[in-house]
Amino acid sequence: MELSEFAALAEALKQECLALLHHADPAQRLDAVKGALNALKDERLARLQREVPTMATPLDKRGAGKLFNELKGALDAALADFAARQVARTADAPWDGTLPARHHWTGSLHPVTLVVDEICAIFRELGFTIALGPEAETEWYNFGALNFPPDHPAMELHDTLYLGEGALLRTHTSPVQVRTLQRCAPPVRVLAPGQVYRRDFFDATHAPAFLQLEGLAVDEDIGFVDLKATLAEFARRFYGASRRVRFGPSYFPFVEPGAQMDVEVDLQDGKGLRWVEILGCGMVHPHVLEAAGVDSERYTGWAFGMGPARIAMSRYGITDIRVLYDSDVRFLEQFAP
Ligand code: PHE
Repeated sequence: MELSEFAALAEALKQECLALLHHADPAQRLDAVKGALNALKDERLARLQREVPTMATPLDKRGAGKLFNELKGALDAALADFAARQVARTADAPWDGTLPARHHWTGSLHPVTLVVDEICAIFRELGFTIALGPEAETEWYNFGALNFPPDHPAMELHDTLYLGEGALLRTHTSPVQVRTLQRCAPPVRVLAPGQVYRRDFFDATHAPAFLQLEGLAVDEDIGFVDLKATLAEFARRFYGASRRVRFGPSYFPFVEPGAQMDVEVDLQDGKGLRWVEILGCGMVHPHVLEAAGVDSERYTGWAFGMGPARIAMSRYGITDIRVLYDSDVRFLEQFAP
């Protein structure tokens, strides 16, 4: 390429860029203007740069190099000038006290954490303390001590994630019942939130790892009435005093009798109130008390277990459990206070 041709191309590019900046609206965001400028110049600038080392004579090479540097300098200066004009313009603008404040990034707790905290607060008021247990459990704590017969289907490999001989990832928080009773003599009132694991597919309604909340009350003369009254009171405080609650029979090896509690919930789908199963519960089986070293002639108790993720879903109208695991800020932002 002739040096004169190079100079003409450089000059044309410079003029076009200056024109763009001259006509750019100073109210536009700076990065938008920068983007438009780059779209206009980047490719042509790169092509000119490639031309420099291919110029015919060393003198032309030097000349082209100089022109190229001048061009770059001029474009940078023009952009800086535009930015400065923009700043000056905003500084001069009359102050508008009615403009809304700039949006602040507020963090929030995860909806499941919100639900767990709220449930824990309610049960704390009802006299419960928090108990924790390990997520890696033995078969005995997870099943044996909880009165599962040795051939129970839940123990099979397709439901339980085994870590090795006799060791597994707990499939529910109920082993914390046994561990608590081994450590603390009744009267006992504990709430045990924690992660549990099941060999389930990750689909709209199942997750292989999820939270459970276990409750346990053991004392002398505790009956089913205490269970019903406490859980109904919990539902009233959590869902509102006007919500109806119902109990129905259910089966778990570690309670007798076993029940489930349903609450009338508005699933936010426009269909109004509907019965939703909230938790499983029942009177602690005497075998469980004995396995934990508690005299089942003297003491009785009741227990319940619930899934805060499901409760969060029914409360906030979430239909796919996977959004609770996505960490998508657009979803999580909605729960910011
Ligand atoms: N552990 C049971 C489950 O995982 C729930 C439950 C806890 C039921 C305590 C009754 C009593 O489904």
